[in-house]
Amino acid sequence: METVLDRLLSAPPLTGESLRPPRLLAAMRHGALNGGKRLRPVLVLETARLFGRTDPGMLQAACAVELVHCYSLVHDDLPAMDDDDLRRGQPTVHKAYDEAAAILAGDALLTMAFDVICEETVHPDPAVRLRLCRELSRAAGIGGMAGGQMLDLDSEHRDRSERDIRQLQSMKTGALLRHACRAGAILADASQADIDRLTRFGELTGLAFQLADDLLDVEASPETVGKATGKDAEAGKATLVGLWGTGKTRQELGRLLQEAETLLAPYGPKADTLTALAGYIVNRTN
Ligand code: IPE
Ligand code: IPE
Ligand code: MG
Ligand code: MG
Ligand code: MG
Repeated sequence: METVLDRLLSAPPLTGESLRPPRLLAAMRHGALNGGKRLRPVLVLETARLFGRTDPGMLQAACAVELVHCYSLVHDDLPAMDDDDLRRGQPTVHKAYDEAAAILAGDALLTMAFDVICEETVHPDPAVRLRLCRELSRAAGIGGMAGGQMLDLDSEHRDRSERDIRQLQSMKTGALLRHACRAGAILADASQADIDRLTRFGELTGLAFQLADDLLDVEASPETVGKATGKDAEAGKATLVGLWGTGKTRQELGRLLQEAETLLAPYGPKADTLTALAGYIVNRTN
Protein backbone atom coordinates (compact mmCIF):
# COMPACT_ATOMS: atom_id res chain seq x y z
CA MET A 1 0.00 0.00 0.00
CA GLU A 2 2.82 2.39 0.93
CA THR A 3 4.57 1.62 -2.35
CA VAL A 4 1.46 2.21 -4.45
CA LEU A 5 0.61 5.46 -2.62
CA ASP A 6 4.20 6.61 -3.00
CA ARG A 7 4.07 5.91 -6.75
CA LEU A 8 0.73 7.69 -7.18
CA LEU A 9 2.16 10.71 -5.37
CA SER A 10 5.31 10.99 -7.45
CA ALA A 11 6.45 13.98 -9.44
CA PRO A 12 6.12 13.12 -13.14
CA PRO A 13 2.85 14.45 -14.56
CA LEU A 14 0.45 11.86 -16.04
CA THR A 15 -1.04 12.05 -19.52
CA GLY A 16 -3.32 15.07 -19.63
CA GLU A 17 -1.64 16.72 -16.66
CA SER A 18 0.59 19.71 -17.18
CA LEU A 19 2.79 20.03 -14.13
CA ARG A 20 2.66 18.89 -10.52
CA PRO A 21 3.57 21.93 -8.40
CA PRO A 22 6.26 20.66 -6.01
CA ARG A 23 4.93 22.38 -2.89
CA LEU A 24 1.43 21.02 -3.45
CA LEU A 25 2.81 17.55 -4.11
CA ALA A 26 4.89 17.79 -0.92
CA ALA A 27 1.79 18.81 1.06
CA MET A 28 -0.16 15.86 -0.40
CA ARG A 29 2.64 13.48 0.48
CA HIS A 30 2.73 14.90 3.99
CA GLY A 31 -1.00 14.20 4.32
CA ALA A 32 -0.92 10.70 2.86
CA LEU A 33 2.48 9.08 3.47
CA ASN A 34 2.74 9.69 7.17
CA GLY A 35 2.05 6.48 9.02
CA GLY A 36 -1.72 6.03 8.96
CA LYS A 37 -3.05 2.66 10.08
CA ARG A 38 -4.39 1.99 6.54
CA LEU A 39 -7.40 0.32 8.02
CA ARG A 40 -9.83 1.18 5.22
CA PRO A 41 -7.62 -0.15 2.42
CA VAL A 42 -6.91 -3.29 4.43
CA LEU A 43 -10.67 -3.82 4.71
CA VAL A 44 -10.96 -3.51 0.91
CA LEU A 45 -8.19 -6.07 0.40
CA GLU A 46 -9.50 -8.52 2.99
CA THR A 47 -13.13 -8.42 1.86
CA ALA A 48 -11.94 -9.04 -1.72
CA ARG A 49 -9.71 -11.90 -0.55
CA LEU A 50 -12.68 -13.48 1.20
CA PHE A 51 -14.26 -13.93 -2.24
CA GLY A 52 -11.05 -15.05 -3.92
CA ARG A 53 -9.63 -11.85 -5.39
CA THR A 54 -6.03 -11.05 -4.49
CA ASP A 55 -4.43 -9.51 -7.61
CA PRO A 56 -2.55 -6.16 -7.58
CA GLY A 57 -5.54 -4.35 -9.13
CA MET A 58 -7.11 -4.57 -5.69
CA LEU A 59 -4.29 -2.43 -4.29
CA GLN A 60 -5.37 0.34 -6.65
CA ALA A 61 -8.97 0.15 -5.43
CA ALA A 62 -7.79 0.06 -1.83
CA CYS A 63 -5.60 3.13 -2.33
CA ALA A 64 -8.54 5.09 -3.75
CA VAL A 65 -10.38 4.68 -0.45
CA GLU A 66 -7.27 5.65 1.53
CA LEU A 67 -6.78 8.78 -0.60
CA VAL A 68 -10.31 9.92 0.23
CA HIS A 69 -9.67 9.18 3.90
CA CYS A 70 -6.37 11.13 3.93
CA TYR A 71 -8.08 14.10 2.28
CA SER A 72 -10.81 13.99 4.92
CA LEU A 73 -8.21 14.15 7.69
CA VAL A 74 -6.31 17.06 6.11
CA HIS A 75 -9.53 19.08 5.92
CA ASP A 76 -10.86 17.84 9.29
CA ASP A 77 -7.77 19.34 10.97
CA LEU A 78 -8.10 22.79 9.35
CA PRO A 79 -8.63 25.79 11.66
CA ALA A 80 -12.17 26.21 10.31
CA MET A 81 -12.99 22.63 11.28
CA ASP A 82 -11.38 20.85 14.27
CA ASP A 83 -8.34 23.14 14.36
CA ASP A 84 -5.74 20.49 15.15
CA ASP A 85 -1.96 20.86 15.07
CA LEU A 86 -0.96 17.20 15.39
CA ARG A 87 -1.87 14.25 13.16
CA ARG A 88 -0.22 10.86 13.00
CA GLY A 89 2.45 12.18 15.36
CA GLN A 90 3.43 15.03 13.05
CA PRO A 91 2.36 18.62 12.44
CA THR A 92 -0.90 18.74 10.46
CA VAL A 93 -0.63 19.75 6.79
CA HIS A 94 -1.72 23.36 7.37
CA LYS A 95 0.91 23.66 10.12
CA ALA A 96 3.71 22.11 8.08
CA TYR A 97 2.71 24.11 4.96
CA ASP A 98 -0.13 26.62 5.10
CA GLU A 99 -3.91 26.64 4.98
CA ALA A 100 -4.18 27.19 1.25
CA ALA A 101 -1.78 24.31 0.58
CA ALA A 102 -3.78 22.07 2.95
CA ILE A 103 -7.08 22.91 1.26
CA LEU A 104 -5.61 22.25 -2.18
CA ALA A 105 -3.80 19.10 -1.03
CA GLY A 106 -7.15 17.77 0.21
CA ASP A 107 -8.84 18.69 -3.08
CA ALA A 108 -6.12 16.97 -5.10
CA LEU A 109 -6.06 13.82 -2.92
CA LEU A 110 -9.82 13.48 -3.32
CA THR A 111 -9.79 13.92 -7.08
CA MET A 112 -6.87 11.52 -7.40
CA ALA A 113 -8.99 8.81 -5.78
CA PHE A 114 -11.43 8.94 -8.70
CA ASP A 115 -8.60 8.83 -11.21
CA VAL A 116 -7.25 5.73 -9.48
CA ILE A 117 -10.61 3.95 -9.41
CA CYS A 118 -10.89 4.34 -13.21
CA GLU A 119 -7.74 2.21 -13.76
CA GLU A 120 -8.48 -0.85 -15.86
CA THR A 121 -6.72 -3.13 -13.36
CA VAL A 122 -9.42 -2.34 -10.78
CA HIS A 123 -11.95 -4.49 -12.67
CA PRO A 124 -12.08 -5.67 -16.28
CA ASP A 125 -15.74 -4.64 -16.65
CA PRO A 126 -16.12 -0.85 -17.05
CA ALA A 127 -19.65 -1.07 -15.66
CA VAL A 128 -18.25 -2.39 -12.36
CA ARG A 129 -15.67 0.41 -12.25
CA LEU A 130 -18.43 2.93 -12.88
CA ARG A 131 -20.52 1.43 -10.09
CA LEU A 132 -17.60 1.70 -7.72
CA CYS A 133 -16.95 5.28 -8.76
CA ARG A 134 -20.54 6.18 -7.98
CA GLU A 135 -20.53 4.36 -4.65
CA LEU A 136 -17.31 6.07 -3.60
CA SER A 137 -18.78 9.47 -4.57
CA ARG A 138 -21.83 8.83 -2.47
CA ALA A 139 -19.83 7.58 0.51
CA ALA A 140 -17.60 10.66 0.40
CA GLY A 141 -20.07 13.38 -0.53
CA ILE A 142 -23.05 15.28 0.79
CA GLY A 143 -24.99 12.19 1.86
CA GLY A 144 -21.89 10.55 3.34
CA MET A 145 -18.64 11.80 4.84
CA ALA A 146 -18.82 15.49 3.88
CA GLY A 147 -22.45 15.65 4.99
CA GLY A 148 -21.54 13.96 8.26
CA GLN A 149 -18.76 16.48 8.87
CA MET A 150 -21.32 19.27 8.40
CA LEU A 151 -23.61 17.65 10.99
CA ASP A 152 -20.64 17.16 13.32
CA LEU A 153 -19.71 20.85 13.18
CA ASP A 154 -23.33 22.04 13.42
CA SER A 155 -23.79 19.87 16.52
CA GLU A 156 -21.00 21.44 18.57
CA HIS A 157 -22.33 22.67 21.93
CA ARG A 158 -25.84 21.55 21.00
CA ASP A 159 -28.06 18.92 22.59
CA ARG A 160 -28.31 15.96 20.26
CA SER A 161 -30.32 12.77 20.69
CA GLU A 162 -28.77 9.31 20.40
CA ARG A 163 -30.51 9.00 17.05
CA ASP A 164 -28.97 12.24 15.75
CA ILE A 165 -25.49 11.21 16.89
CA ARG A 166 -25.81 7.78 15.31
CA GLN A 167 -26.85 9.46 12.08
CA LEU A 168 -23.92 11.88 12.04
CA GLN A 169 -21.39 9.18 12.94
CA SER A 170 -22.73 6.76 10.35
CA MET A 171 -22.11 9.48 7.78
CA LYS A 172 -18.83 11.12 8.82
CA THR A 173 -16.98 7.87 9.60
CA GLY A 174 -19.32 5.00 8.83
CA ALA A 175 -19.92 5.73 5.16
CA LEU A 176 -16.30 5.25 4.08
CA LEU A 177 -15.75 2.12 6.19
CA ARG A 178 -18.98 0.67 4.84
CA HIS A 179 -17.83 1.49 1.34
CA ALA A 180 -14.45 -0.17 1.94
CA CYS A 181 -16.16 -3.46 2.86
CA ARG A 182 -18.64 -3.27 -0.03
CA ALA A 183 -15.93 -2.35 -2.54
CA GLY A 184 -13.92 -5.49 -1.83
CA ALA A 185 -16.98 -7.71 -2.22
CA ILE A 186 -18.18 -5.93 -5.39
CA LEU A 187 -14.77 -6.05 -7.05
CA ALA A 188 -14.47 -9.75 -6.26
CA ASP A 189 -17.84 -10.35 -7.99
CA ALA A 190 -19.45 -11.62 -4.78
CA SER A 191 -23.16 -12.52 -4.79
CA GLN A 192 -25.74 -9.92 -3.74
CA ALA A 193 -26.31 -11.83 -0.47
CA ASP A 194 -22.59 -11.68 0.29
CA ILE A 195 -22.38 -7.98 -0.63
CA ASP A 196 -25.30 -7.33 1.74
CA ARG A 197 -23.61 -9.28 4.54
CA LEU A 198 -20.33 -7.42 4.11
CA THR A 199 -22.22 -4.12 3.94
CA ARG A 200 -23.70 -4.85 7.36
CA PHE A 201 -20.23 -5.82 8.59
CA GLY A 202 -18.98 -2.45 7.29
CA GLU A 203 -21.74 -0.61 9.14
CA LEU A 204 -20.95 -2.34 12.42
CA THR A 205 -17.26 -1.71 11.91
CA GLY A 206 -17.91 1.95 11.13
CA LEU A 207 -19.86 2.51 14.32
CA ALA A 208 -17.33 0.58 16.40
CA PHE A 209 -14.52 2.55 14.83
CA GLN A 210 -15.93 5.94 15.81
CA LEU A 211 -16.89 4.73 19.31
CA ALA A 212 -13.29 3.60 19.80
CA ASP A 213 -12.02 6.94 18.42
CA ASP A 214 -14.24 8.85 20.84
CA LEU A 215 -13.11 6.63 23.75
CA LEU A 216 -9.46 7.25 22.85
CA ASP A 217 -10.15 10.99 22.84
CA VAL A 218 -11.24 10.65 26.49
CA GLU A 219 -8.76 8.05 27.72
CA ALA A 220 -5.58 8.05 25.63
CA SER A 221 -2.55 10.32 25.53
CA PRO A 222 -1.45 12.33 22.47
CA GLU A 223 1.79 10.31 22.44
CA THR A 224 -0.02 7.01 21.87
CA VAL A 225 -2.63 8.24 19.37
CA GLY A 226 -0.46 10.79 17.54
CA LYS A 227 -3.12 13.50 17.76
CA ALA A 228 -4.46 15.81 20.45
CA THR A 229 -6.84 14.18 22.94
CA GLY A 230 -9.46 15.52 25.32
CA LYS A 231 -10.70 17.75 22.54
CA ASP A 232 -14.20 16.43 21.93
CA ALA A 233 -15.60 17.54 25.30
CA GLU A 234 -13.79 20.85 25.03
CA ALA A 235 -15.17 21.49 21.55
CA GLY A 236 -18.64 20.35 22.65
CA LYS A 237 -18.72 17.52 20.08
CA ALA A 238 -21.83 15.36 19.99
CA THR A 239 -20.54 11.83 20.69
CA LEU A 240 -22.08 8.67 22.07
CA VAL A 241 -19.29 8.55 24.66
CA GLY A 242 -20.43 12.00 25.78
CA LEU A 243 -24.00 10.73 26.01
CA TRP A 244 -23.35 7.30 27.57
CA GLY A 245 -20.00 7.60 29.37
CA THR A 246 -17.12 5.19 28.82
CA GLY A 247 -18.61 2.13 30.59
CA LYS A 248 -21.69 1.79 28.42
CA THR A 249 -19.62 2.61 25.33
CA ARG A 250 -17.30 -0.31 26.08
CA GLN A 251 -20.29 -2.60 26.56
CA GLU A 252 -21.70 -1.51 23.21
CA LEU A 253 -18.32 -2.12 21.57
CA GLY A 254 -18.34 -5.67 22.94
CA ARG A 255 -21.82 -6.21 21.56
CA LEU A 256 -20.85 -4.85 18.14
CA LEU A 257 -17.85 -7.19 18.00
CA GLN A 258 -20.06 -10.18 18.79
CA GLU A 259 -22.47 -9.21 16.04
CA ALA A 260 -19.61 -8.77 13.58
CA GLU A 261 -18.22 -12.20 14.47
CA THR A 262 -21.65 -13.78 14.00
CA LEU A 263 -21.94 -12.17 10.56
CA LEU A 264 -18.60 -13.60 9.46
CA ALA A 265 -19.05 -17.04 11.03
CA PRO A 266 -20.54 -18.63 7.87
CA TYR A 267 -17.27 -18.00 6.00
CA GLY A 268 -15.24 -20.10 8.45
CA PRO A 269 -11.45 -19.70 8.80
CA LYS A 270 -11.29 -17.76 5.50
CA ALA A 271 -12.66 -14.78 7.45
CA ASP A 272 -10.19 -15.05 10.33
CA THR A 273 -8.24 -11.93 9.32
CA LEU A 274 -11.42 -9.87 8.92
CA THR A 275 -12.63 -11.07 12.31
CA ALA A 276 -9.27 -10.15 13.81
CA LEU A 277 -9.56 -6.71 12.19
CA ALA A 278 -12.95 -6.20 13.82
CA GLY A 279 -11.37 -7.13 17.17
CA TYR A 280 -8.53 -4.72 16.53
CA ILE A 281 -10.96 -1.88 15.74
CA VAL A 282 -12.84 -2.47 18.99
CA ASN A 283 -9.78 -2.82 21.21
CA ARG A 284 -7.33 -0.52 19.45
CA THR A 285 -5.10 1.73 21.49
CA ASN A 286 -4.20 4.22 18.75
C1 IPE B 1 -9.23 8.87 12.21
O1 IPE B 1 -9.11 7.74 11.39
C2 IPE B 1 -10.42 9.66 11.83
C3 IPE B 1 -11.72 9.04 12.06
C4 IPE B 1 -12.49 8.73 11.09
C5 IPE B 1 -12.18 8.83 13.41
P1 IPE B 1 -7.94 6.69 11.62
O2 IPE B 1 -7.81 6.40 13.08
O3 IPE B 1 -8.16 5.51 10.71
O4 IPE B 1 -6.67 7.49 11.16
P2 IPE B 1 -5.30 6.99 10.55
O5 IPE B 1 -5.53 6.86 9.09
O6 IPE B 1 -4.88 5.69 11.17
O7 IPE B 1 -4.35 8.10 10.88
C1 IPE C 1 -13.24 12.71 11.76
O1 IPE C 1 -13.71 12.48 13.03
C2 IPE C 1 -13.98 11.98 10.74
C3 IPE C 1 -13.52 12.35 9.41
C4 IPE C 1 -14.32 12.28 8.42
C5 IPE C 1 -12.15 12.80 9.16
P1 IPE C 1 -12.82 13.12 14.18
O2 IPE C 1 -12.72 14.60 14.01
O3 IPE C 1 -13.25 12.58 15.49
O4 IPE C 1 -11.40 12.47 13.80
P2 IPE C 1 -10.05 12.78 14.58
O5 IPE C 1 -10.28 12.45 16.03
O6 IPE C 1 -9.74 14.21 14.34
O7 IPE C 1 -9.05 11.85 13.94
MG1 MG D 1 -13.86 16.12 13.17
MG1 MG E 1 -10.92 15.83 14.16
MG1 MG F 1 -11.89 11.97 17.08
